[in-house]
Amino acid sequence: MVLALGAATLLVAGGARSQGPSIPQTPPDTVVDLTYEAPVDVDTAGLPGPKQPIFYRHDIHAGQYRMQCRYCHAYVDQSASPGLPSIASCMGCHLIVGTGNPEVQKLREAFASNTPIEWVEVHRVSQFVKFPHMRHVVNGELDCKECHGQINRMPQVYRHASLKMGWCVDCHVTKEYKDEPGRPVTSDCSACHY
Ligand code: HEC
Ligand code: HEC
Ligand code: HEC
Ligand code: HEC
Ligand code: HEC
Repeated sequence: MVLALGAATLLVAGGARSQGPSIPQTPPDTVVDLTYEAPVDVDTAGLPGPKQPIFYRHDIHAGQYRMQCRYCHAYVDQSASPGLPSIASCMGCHLIVGTGNPEVQKLREAFASNTPIEWVEVHRVSQFVKFPHMRHVVNGELDCKECHGQINRMPQVYRHASLKMGWCVDCHVTKEYKDEPGRPVTSDCSACHY
């Protein structure tokens, strides 16, 4: 076990970079706690949020191993919808790491048979709403946790915020545009609605 963890840490620290996409040198999402260890046994029945087809854990990857959000959500700075990582990006590590784990086994089978994983959607605003994700994290300089909560402590992702209109507007009225200091962020109906 100690040996397995040692190899895993090495992979996170170096090996993965030569195999997967390069890890952007952005500041960490949250205050880095070098001592955090994700719980080994979790009561899956009691977890908030939808059950996923594979029990992928942010508390292990982004928490304990401190992987950057952008390693997997690579388009978050460019796209209106950042999207989810491909299986290939997992396999840089999981060809070797966790082969005895039944959840990792499911991942490896999906990879071998070229079957996409049908992750269950957690966040979605209605079609009549415009939400430019990249504007918020780039110009707005907002940390992921402002809207998604402490993802790096979640064994299973759940909705931290309501995503309702009041939630959007309540933040907008307290913020200003980066390019136009002093001007509050929009409350115009047409800015957010088609
Ligand atoms: C090793 C890859 C990986 C890393 C690192 C990672 N994620 Fe994820 N993320 C995933 C996968 C896979 C899913 C889909 C399964 C799920 O919801 O757990 C996901 C789902 C999500 C979702 C929910 C998507 C939806 O359907 O609404 C959010 C929000 C999210 N991640 C934010 C983050 C944040 C914030 C960080 C950094 C603290 C992060 N992720 C780090 C792989 C990753
Ligand atoms: C940088 C390396 C790395 C990448 C990339 C990576 N993982 Fe992992 N993963 C790990 C490590 C390390 C563990 C912990 C293994 C252990 O404790 O034995 C782990 C554990 C897991 C587990 C088992 C969780 C448990 O209950 O113990 C699953 C399932 C998993 N990863 C899925 C994924 C998925 C899906 C992706 C891609 C979205 C992914 N991993 C990407 C390193 C990685
Ligand atoms: C201002 C609030 C806000 C911030 C900050 C934010 N998100 Fe989101 N995120 C949302 C909303 C709202 C959605 C649902 C978007 C939709 O329905 O199009 C979402 C959706 C997602 C999804 C689901 C995938 C998809 O394509 O819809 C992922 C993954 C995600 N966010 C990751 C991140 C990461 C990583 C960060 C930090 C780099 C981040 N978010 C910062 C509000 C935010
Ligand atoms: C935590 C704060 C926060 C939340 C929550 C938030 N926003 Fe924003 N939003 C901002 C900031 C800050 C900007 C301005 C970024 C900049 O400087 O360009 C912005 C910009 C925008 C813009 C671009 C406005 C323009 O003038 O072009 C739209 C559209 C938008 N947000 C929609 C939404 C929607 C829809 C929601 C809810 C689903 C939401 N926002 C939730 C902080 C937030
Ligand atoms: C900052 C973004 C934002 C602004 C500004 C905004 N809305 Fe919304 N609006 C939303 C979001 C997000 C929802 C909820 C969509 C959902 O449930 O997925 C919503 C929902 C609605 C709904 C559907 C009913 C409901 O309450 O869910 C109506 C009608 C509506 N808005 C009208 C307006 C009008 C009129 C204005 C201008 C006075 C306005 N909106 C300004 C983001 C915004």
